Amino acid sequence: LSGRGAGALRASRRGFLTGAASLAAVADARRGAAAQALADGTGSTRGPNTQFIEPFWGTHQGGIVTPVQTYTYFAAFDLVATKQNQVASLLQTWTSAAARMASSETAQPLDDGLKPVVVTNASDTQMQGDDSYAKPEPNDMAADTGEALGLPPARLTVTFGFGPGLFSKDGKDRYGLAPRRPEALVDLPKFVGDQLVGGNSGGDLSVQACADDPQVAFHAVRQLARLADNVAQIRWVQTGFIPDSSSSQTPRNLMGFKDGTNNPPANDANIMKNFVWVGEEGPDWMRGGSYMVARRIRIALEHWDRMKVAFQEQTVGRHKYSGAPLGKKEEFDTLDLDATDADGNPVVPENAHVRLAAAATNDGAQILRRPYSYNDGVNFTAERWPPWRQGLEYDAGLFFVCYQRDPRTGFIKIFERMAKLDMMNQFVTHVGGGLFACPSGAVEGAFVGQHLFETAP
Ligand code: HEM
Repeated sequence: LSGRGAGALRASRRGFLTGAASLAAVADARRGAAAQALADGTGSTRGPNTQFIEPFWGTHQGGIVTPVQTYTYFAAFDLVATKQNQVASLLQTWTSAAARMASSETAQPLDDGLKPVVVTNASDTQMQGDDSYAKPEPNDMAADTGEALGLPPARLTVTFGFGPGLFSKDGKDRYGLAPRRPEALVDLPKFVGDQLVGGNSGGDLSVQACADDPQVAFHAVRQLARLADNVAQIRWVQTGFIPDSSSSQTPRNLMGFKDGTNNPPANDANIMKNFVWVGEEGPDWMRGGSYMVARRIRIALEHWDRMKVAFQEQTVGRHKYSGAPLGKKEEFDTLDLDATDADGNPVVPENAHVRLAAAATNDGAQILRRPYSYNDGVNFTAERWPPWRQGLEYDAGLFFVCYQRDPRTGFIKIFERMAKLDMMNQFVTHVGGGLFACPSGAVEGAFVGQHLFETAP
């Protein structure tokens, strides 16, 4: 699986238009390779990632325990439909398009494929930019926008979520689903320091595409948004990136620290069962699903960059270069919260990020973090901590995403205290986000969330 010699596994989206049968075989081979890698515990992150397909159908949705891809494109949608069956039918369309795109196919089938060009009308110059393909028929244009043609699958996953607004909005039960709202899908409380912007928060539906190619990720969400015409419209989006996901190193975030070291192992089925997947306590359509909390967290990089590394390390509770817990040598050395120095002071400060976040100080609470860095240019900003700088600053930070079995015993439990006490708060501001119930995965032919609609009145 490793090495760059996996050329035999290479398939292009354009290829699917011409040799579907042979490419289906290639796709099976790649699927097998990815599955084997997961079974080996090596994940499908090794080697030339862009060649691999992440399986779409299954007990769980992809993009949760999937080894983190290099890029993400997240979109939250407002529903504008008036009827429940319009929403169900959108989810059906979305599921089938997402499954196709994960296998490197166009969002919807093309009628005849793209044919070699035959320009019959000399005055028709509009479509002659790429002269190897004919002007697509209207139906072809509706099937896919085309920017991923020729690109490999890039381990694309698409993860769907339902926000509280699917169940009721402004006190109205728009789709007859209010009685089916899971108890765990709470309205997130307002946390100390929150500066959430409406235009970057909430949403009735969420779609997160993750892939090892940014164009594949964007393409996927773009197709789904297009197919949602008259049923749902984009409310806010967020892009994100991490360093090359094929590297075996823990990725560093924009603070320059390794991020993810003490994440629960996503390939440990027992831990995932206990902390990530909804069990018998949830409605049937959520069993095997998970709750996603997304937070757009701006980091005052200019401020952070003026701090001494020793202070940054006290803030995080880990060493910057090695990633080791303070006082330890290696990244994966155990975090010892009881350790004290010669003066009897805690080695890991009382308000260090990792102490406040650790399961040991949160009654055992654990979440699976899947964060991406974001970099959205510069903005005029007034910092909320000394030295209260004002001016053009980076609009960059962490698109924090985490999954849990129940947000009340996961993110909310951990973040409530952190929002008040974390030293890191001097440098970070939560400016957007949402909570979404991500249903279980779908078996081939069904659609994500189908059971919610089947059992609805
Ligand atoms: C910009 C915001 C944030 C940054 C830069 C950040 C960065 C980090 C870093 C560098 C670590 C240490 C390495 C590791 O174990 O992954 C860490 C750990 C952790 N963070 Fe954050 N984090 C942020 C926000 C949050 C938020 C909002 C939460 C939510 C509750 C959170 C939860 C955790 C947890 C649970 C750990 C592991 C603690 C442990 O058990 O050792 N982080 N974070």
